[in-house]
Amino acid sequence: MSDLILVIDEGTTSTRAMLFKPDGTCVAVQADDLTQHYPESGRVEHDPSEIWTKTLAVARAVIDKAGGADRIAAIGITNQRETLVFWDKETGEPLAPAIVWQDRRTAATCRAMKEAGHEPTVQAKTGLLLDPYFSGSKIGWAMENWPQLKEAGDRLAIGTIESWLIWKLTAGEGRAGEHVTDATNASRTALMAIGSGNWDDGLIELFGAPRKALPEIVDCAGRFGETTLFGAPIPICGIAGDQQAATIGQSCLQVGDTKATFGTGAFVLTQAGRIPPTSHNRLLSTIAWQIGGRRAYALEGSVFVAGSLIKWLRDSLGLFGNAAETEALARSVKDNGGTYLVPALSGLGAPWWEPDARGTISGLSFSTGKAHIVRAALEAMAHQAHDLKTAFAADGVDWNCVRIDGGMVANDWMAQDMADILNIEVERPEFAETTALGAAMLAGIGSGLFKDLDAASVMRGKVETFRPSMDEDLRQHRLSGWQRAVKSVVVAAS
Ligand code: G3P
Repeated sequence: MSDLILVIDEGTTSTRAMLFKPDGTCVAVQADDLTQHYPESGRVEHDPSEIWTKTLAVARAVIDKAGGADRIAAIGITNQRETLVFWDKETGEPLAPAIVWQDRRTAATCRAMKEAGHEPTVQAKTGLLLDPYFSGSKIGWAMENWPQLKEAGDRLAIGTIESWLIWKLTAGEGRAGEHVTDATNASRTALMAIGSGNWDDGLIELFGAPRKALPEIVDCAGRFGETTLFGAPIPICGIAGDQQAATIGQSCLQVGDTKATFGTGAFVLTQAGRIPPTSHNRLLSTIAWQIGGRRAYALEGSVFVAGSLIKWLRDSLGLFGNAAETEALARSVKDNGGTYLVPALSGLGAPWWEPDARGTISGLSFSTGKAHIVRAALEAMAHQAHDLKTAFAADGVDWNCVRIDGGMVANDWMAQDMADILNIEVERPEFAETTALGAAMLAGIGSGLFKDLDAASVMRGKVETFRPSMDEDLRQHRLSGWQRAVKSVVVAAS
């Protein structure tokens, strides 16, 4: 009996396969870390072959646990967005490293395009800004700097991570794979006009992307080919970028519903309905999902550094051995001791958009200990979220509650600090893997198990609520300390 949904969750730092029952219960998980390559300052690359082989291995492991591919009704795929893969359509082999969303190599190009006055057009068409974060400028750079891409001619395929995985899953002996991307991932390339849901020729020319190498844009739920790599054919029925999948997994289905995911970075999306919103406060307008050709949109605030800061404090500074220790460290001091940490380790995203900004730890004295620095790092999450809340409010969509998820939110101290600083209720689902859950919901719709997202919401479980309780003077003191710190970082970069 095919009664399980296989989700492939391809994050920035790990690849995971998970199996879900139709009631939302997760019955198997297998994960592996992905190697991060930093060839130069500001550059971040992945190996597409490693992504593929590890995906295959974790998927095989959970399918084996379930007793074979006959048990799997459908596959849902969710992924780190904006990261680009270049491959050969004939061999199915990568032609270059994957350029990761965090990569800043096109900062100067984006600045020049901004100075040339292109940003208003880009923003009006794509909902995005001119920043190296998005894929368009990365494609232009790769076409200019990696001659093998031009040499490949019509054999060149370009796609974000889900596109690469779908190709590899559906290709067979002497048979090309499906070359598709879903509308949410396409909306992050800066090459798609989000109002129409199509590639835009003007943008393609502006960024120097080869039109023929781009995938076909498809819905987030449907039938996108099948894979025969696991012993029995399994259809691929759900696709979404990870932040959009988390929005779905958190059931942000009504206009105004907001989720904040604290993974490698932190990404807040507020459901905006059927018309693309326009931000006047440096937020992004993006596609939340496309089902049956109908699109829903979201307003997004993207923060580049969240969980990666904790990883850096652990691995590069050695302040603790395990991320779980950060909670006890934060609780071990009565306050931050005047220390503020601005985690601009790969520039600042929304609402500042300063690719050249770099991180700082300020307010140090001889009484500062590592617990203060760790506490300041955790506090930075609430402070960054507060900057976004202010921008969303200025755009007319203030949050009255936020649904949090992602690896970092297991930290109760951080979840409470978030409620205190934002001064609103914060909801945390008992099952924190909302990104994978959202992809499972989409695959459930695509395979006909659910008729729509409302019906698929039965997969969502219980939530826990954190309520604000911080003294207002203290809250204002924290907010002004952060503002001083972040503004000095922005001024130093500009
Ligand atoms: O836009 C980048 C985002 O999709 C990365 O997500 O989960 O790896 O932080 P994550």
